[in-house]
Amino acid sequence: MGTITLSQLRKKKQNQEKIVMVTAYDYISAQMADQAGVDMILVGDSVGTVVQGRPTTLSVTLDQMIYHAEMVVRATEHAMVIVDMPFPYCQLGPEEAVRAAARIIKETGASGVKIEGGGRRQETIQALVEAGIPVIGHCGLMPQSIRTLGGYRVQRDTDLLCADARAVEQCGVFAVILECVPKETAAEVARMLAVPVIGIGAGNGCDGQVLVFHDLLGYTMKDTLPRHARAYAHLKDIIIGAIQNYAHDVRTGRFPDDSESF
Ligand code: KIV
Repeated sequence: MGTITLSQLRKKKQNQEKIVMVTAYDYISAQMADQAGVDMILVGDSVGTVVQGRPTTLSVTLDQMIYHAEMVVRATEHAMVIVDMPFPYCQLGPEEAVRAAARIIKETGASGVKIEGGGRRQETIQALVEAGIPVIGHCGLMPQSIRTLGGYRVQRDTDLLCADARAVEQCGVFAVILECVPKETAAEVARMLAVPVIGIGAGNGCDGQVLVFHDLLGYTMKDTLPRHARAYAHLKDIIIGAIQNYAHDVRTGRFPDDSESF
C-alpha cells in the first residue's frame, strides 16, 4: 500500500473523503494505529501531558520528541508520520526552527512537522518549506501559548482564526489543524482553504479529525475526557482489572502454573 503522500491527502479533500489522524508516542501504539488504517499519525507534544504527566506541553524537549518519533516512524508502514515542533523552537525564529526540524526529519525519518501559530509564524513556515520540510500549521487553541491564552478554552475570534489559517496556507503548509474553535468557524475555514483542515474540538465540517490516542481508548486515569474527545474503549478498567487478577494469582499461588514453568 505504501506510505500515504501529500497529494493523496489533497485528493481526499477534493473527493470529500475524511482524513483520519491520531496521536501516538511509541512503537506498539503506532503499529496498532497503522494497522487500524489511519491516514496520519501525529507524534504530538501532548506526550508531555499524556505520557509524562506534566501539567503543560511546555517542558517537552527536542530530544524527547526525536526519541518518541523515531519509534513511531519505525513502527509505521502506511500512515504519514508528523512530529510536533516542541516549545520554543518556532518561537525563536526561522533559523532555530529549521535547525530543529532538520534534526527531527533526519533522525526520525518522519514526513513533516507541525507548528503552532498563525500569521505570527509566517517567516518560520516559509523557511521550513523552503528547506524542503513539509509543514502542518496549528491554529485556534495553541497549548504552547497557554500562558498568554489564559487557559485551555475555545477560541472564538473568527476573524483572527480565518486570517491565521489563510496566512499559514499562503506560506505553503500542506494542512492545518484547528483546535477548539466553534464548528461554524472551522467549517468556514475548511471551505476557504485548498489544503485539508483537520479538527480537534472543531466540529464535523472539517476535512478530517485528530484525537489523542489515550483519550480515544479510555487509556487515562482522568474521570472526564475533554468535551471534544470520544472514548471508543475503556482500557483503564481493562488494564487495572488485568493487573488485579495477576496480583491475586501471585498472592494465592495460582501464577505461575506448571505450563508456565520450566
Ligand atoms: O500535541 C498534540 O497532540 C496536538 C493535537 C491535540 C492536535 O497538538
